[in-house]
Amino acid sequence: MDSEVLIMLLTPGPVAVPKRILQAQAREMIYHRGAEVEALIKGIVDGMLPGFNCEDLFLISGSGTNAIEMCLANCCKKEEKILVFSNGEFGNRLAEMASLYSTMQQEKLPVGKGWSLERAKAAIDSSDAQALAMVYNETSTGVGNRVGEICKYAKSKGMLTIVDAVSAWGAYEFDMQKMGIDFAATASQKALACPPGLGFFAASKAGQERAVSLKCPVDILDYRKFKKSMEKFQTPWTPPISTMFAVQESLKMIAEKGGLDAHIKSHMEAAALAREFVEKELGREVFAEKGFYSNTITGFILEGADDYRKKLRERHNLVTARDFGDVKGKFFRICHLGHIDVAQLKVALSYIKDVVNEQG
Ligand SMILES: Cc1ncc(COP(=O)(O)O)c(C=O)c1O
Repeated sequence: MDSEVLIMLLTPGPVAVPKRILQAQAREMIYHRGAEVEALIKGIVDGMLPGFNCEDLFLISGSGTNAIEMCLANCCKKEEKILVFSNGEFGNRLAEMASLYSTMQQEKLPVGKGWSLERAKAAIDSSDAQALAMVYNETSTGVGNRVGEICKYAKSKGMLTIVDAVSAWGAYEFDMQKMGIDFAATASQKALACPPGLGFFAASKAGQERAVSLKCPVDILDYRKFKKSMEKFQTPWTPPISTMFAVQESLKMIAEKGGLDAHIKSHMEAAALAREFVEKELGREVFAEKGFYSNTITGFILEGADDYRKKLRERHNLVTARDFGDVKGKFFRICHLGHIDVAQLKVALSYIKDVVNEQG
């Protein structure tokens, strides 16, 4: 959040974009073929790759959904099966999309509950699926799933693994090799706190091998085309160059604050602050089950939440995120994602306290 803007965004993406990043976007346009764009893409890949620890990292046009679809389209076979673990709206969307590419088996947990290996093991053991897909951070309710232990186990059983890390990358520990993740997706408007427009597709060595062995059914998401272009640090089609300028600046900001670990820590600290606020200042319960708290979203049950959101917007110019899915009409999300300004977050929390406690 920026102290000079009138409207405060406390949403899970797009998140508030720091002025430095907005200004970086306003640079003169460059040609998408040539040395300048190659240096730009190389800088972004070099800056982000350690935060994935994988073989391939591609920048793709569009939002996180495009990047997720690229994972599925380059991993799945129609005649095979994919197991999807879900516990909310983004898990449901992942399952729906996966069903376009393979026979899909969905295992659901009630919203608020988190996936651990203990809960996932039986389904993995009894499934004949060749791949597994799940969401790291279920943004609709603020639940962090233990993707590392689950994917590692699934890989030991011979499965390929796909993780929607859209609202997790940069805010949670993420190491594809250590966690047994073969394909992962994120986007520019989340922990990187940039405008939307750029997706990120990551693949492990096994993911890379799988992708080259398939014929991708979606031309604009074809792994092989991206791989060929990446040899020159280019993209197959015209990329959102202004958003790339923004990401370059965001990576500089992350480096200045001590690197990705420091950025992740800032999310964990803000999450702890938000949980304490919900419990102590509002006297309410954090919705996520203990042990599965989210680093980026803290939610709680609030009947008629739309009225509170309306008041926050009208009185304080504070924009908060809608509720949907199983918690529609009764849920409030405090989002702490991006380059978090703790002073601004505290101001936003004080507004939320006024409005929520006033109505009881
Ligand atoms: C976990 C998760 N998956 C997927 C998406 C979809 O991303 P996008 O809106 O960038 O396509 C979101 C967006 O909030 C998300 O939080």
